[in-house]
Order: sequence, then C-alpha cells, then structure tokens
Amino acid sequence: MVRSWTALLLAASALTRSSARAASSYHATDVFDSSNFFAEFDFFTQPDPTNGFVQYVDAETANRDGLAGYAQAGVYLGVDSTNTTTTGRASVRVTSKKAYTKGLFIADIAHMPAGATNGNSCGLWPAFWMFGPNWPNSGEIDIIEGVNTQASNAVTLHTGAGCSVTNAGSLAGTKLASPSCHGAAGCSQTTHPDARNYGAAFNAAAGGLYALEWTDDTIKVWFFPRNSTTAALLSNNPRTTAPDPSTFGPPLAAFVGGAGCPIAQHFANHRIVFDTTFCGDWAGRVWAADKTCAALAPTCEAYVGGRPGAFAHAYWLVRSVRVFERAAGGRAARQVYPAAELGREI
Ligand SMILES: *[C@@H]1O[C@H](CO)[C@@H](O)[C@H](O)[C@H]1NC(C)=O
Ligand SMILES: *[C@@H]1O[C@H](CO)[C@@H](O)[C@H](O)[C@H]1NC(C)=O
Repeated sequence: MVRSWTALLLAASALTRSSARAASSYHATDVFDSSNFFAEFDFFTQPDPTNGFVQYVDAETANRDGLAGYAQAGVYLGVDSTNTTTTGRASVRVTSKKAYTKGLFIADIAHMPAGATNGNSCGLWPAFWMFGPNWPNSGEIDIIEGVNTQASNAVTLHTGAGCSVTNAGSLAGTKLASPSCHGAAGCSQTTHPDARNYGAAFNAAAGGLYALEWTDDTIKVWFFPRNSTTAALLSNNPRTTAPDPSTFGPPLAAFVGGAGCPIAQHFANHRIVFDTTFCGDWAGRVWAADKTCAALAPTCEAYVGGRPGAFAHAYWLVRSVRVFERAAGGRAARQVYPAAELGREI
C-alpha cells in the first residue's frame, strides 16, 4: 500500500512553484504533495513534548516499516498497528522545512487518524497544526485536533501573554471556550457539530479540504466536506491558482484579534506539522473521565499498547497542502530553522 520514496529522497530538490497573480491577490508559493512532500518535511524523532505514549521514528524506519510513504496519489503518515508495546506506539511526526508568516493554507485530506467507528478514537491524539519558534511566543495554530471520543474538530490558538480574541463570524454552533489564548490552555473552539469535519465520519465521507487564512487581523479556519461545491471547486482548480477566501462563506472557526490580540505580535514563522500521538497530556489525562474509553482498559497506555489492531485506521492520507501568500508588499519572509529550535506543542 505504501510506496517507498527513497529514490525520490535521493533526487530531492526543494520545489517552489509560483504562478501568475490570481484574482484574490494571493499567489501560490508552495505545493506539497506526492511529488515532493518528503523532500520538504523533516521527521521529528525526539521524545514527544506532550508526553505521549509514542515513539516517533525517523524517515528510514518509517519507510521500511510502511509508516510513511506515497500512497493512493497522496502522502501516507501512519502508525504501527501490528505490534504490542509497553514503551510507546511507533508513529510519525513531520514538520515543514519552510516557515511562514501569514497566508492562505489549503490542505486536501482524504483520511485522518481515527478509530473504526465514529466517536471511538480512544487513545488517539492526531493533529494538523503550525507553530513558531520560542513557544508559545510566536504562536501555535491547531487546525485539526482532537482526542478519544471527540465528535467534531477542535480549533485552537496558543500564544504568549496578552492575546484575547473573540470568535465573531464563526459558523453557528461553534463555541469559544475561553478568550485568552495564553499558554497551554489556549483559546479553543469546539466546532459546529458536523461530525464530517473530524474522525471516522470525516473518513467515511472521503475527507475534505481544510483552509486556514492568517492575516494581521484574523485567523480563520474553514472545512469543506468532500461532496461540497467549494471542495469541488478548490480541487478542480489548477493547483497553483489562488482561491478567494471572501467567497468561502462563514468559517468553521474565526479568531478575531483586534486590540485584544494584535495577531502580528503573537504569530510568526510557523512551520506546518502533521502528527499522531497517543495518550499523553491530553488523550491520556482525560482517559478516566471518558466512559467509552475507560470501559476498554484501565489506562490509556494499556489500551494503546495492548491493542495494535485498534489503530489500523490511524493514518493521515494528505493529497496536498497548498500555500498562498499576498502579492501586495511582496512575499512574507520565509525562514528555515534547524531542528533544535523546534518548539513544543501542548
Ligand atoms: C514490530 O516489531 C518488530 C520486531 O520488534 C520490528 O522489527 C518492527 O519494526 C515493528 N514494526 C513497526 C511497524 O514498528
Ligand atoms: C453530502 O453528503 C452528506 C452525507 O454525508 C449529505 O447529507 C449531503 O446532502 C451531501 N451534500 C451534497 C451537496 O451532496
């Protein structure tokens, strides 16, 4: 199922594609897909900063064991679903080499880590997110994230002190848990209860597209189910043609900065991350309080370690991540940081 990318790694060259300006004033700066993904993302192999019951493996190990590769015209990022373990389940976490400040990011995702049935992803903590150096002072944007039996996506920002947002303009039903984005708790939005935006229901509907627009004023996240008109439009567009977010309709989650949170002071130089971890500071901490999961095993680690088959659906299949930046004022600065500067996620 998973094709080796070793030959591609050897031939790797950083691909940057650009196109003529589109109507929206965004222009394409990068496309990451099955033609270049593993040349553009690094494997994170340090201990999980969120204390997950996980062993993040390097590129060679992931490739050898079929945990990462190109599959079904997409990028497969999976976990070990055959071995029992007492030391942490093998998984992958990848980070873009490039870092971005502001822009429009569109991810076409066919499958995300989940359990076999909706609302039962016990032990899992998948995330698609971005963050800057010196956490949390350059900010973190969690675009897709959740744990255990969570039914719909949670979208969260983390910042240094002095960032208080509103969620004016979010889709009806999306709720902001707290206005302050400071630190580990962050400002989290529990999204509109359309189960298709997360987990097994997302997968059953063939996934969809997530869009993030980050400006000096707002951070907005949209979800377009696979069978929606906008998903079809975005997928059928020439891949480097910039879409216009003003035509997207109400975002799944909007974070409005204003005077309470000058976005430009709190968010900069973000790298893009996909990972799948287990238990740890979130999925593990709430295990006992989750009746469905707690009924399966006394601890999150016992379940994750002892039931490899439960994680057969715990993989990302990413068709593409496209990055667009504003033409006006030139490109935002993009920097590449050494791995040692990787921050921590909460
Ligand atoms: C499963 O365990 C075997 C034996 O220890 C090991 O060689 C293999 O790499 C493991 N597979 C995964 C996917 O971690
Ligand atoms: C998309 O599929 C859902 C079921 O998953 C259905 O309720 C909805 O009407 C469909 N929408 C369109 C535009 O076909």
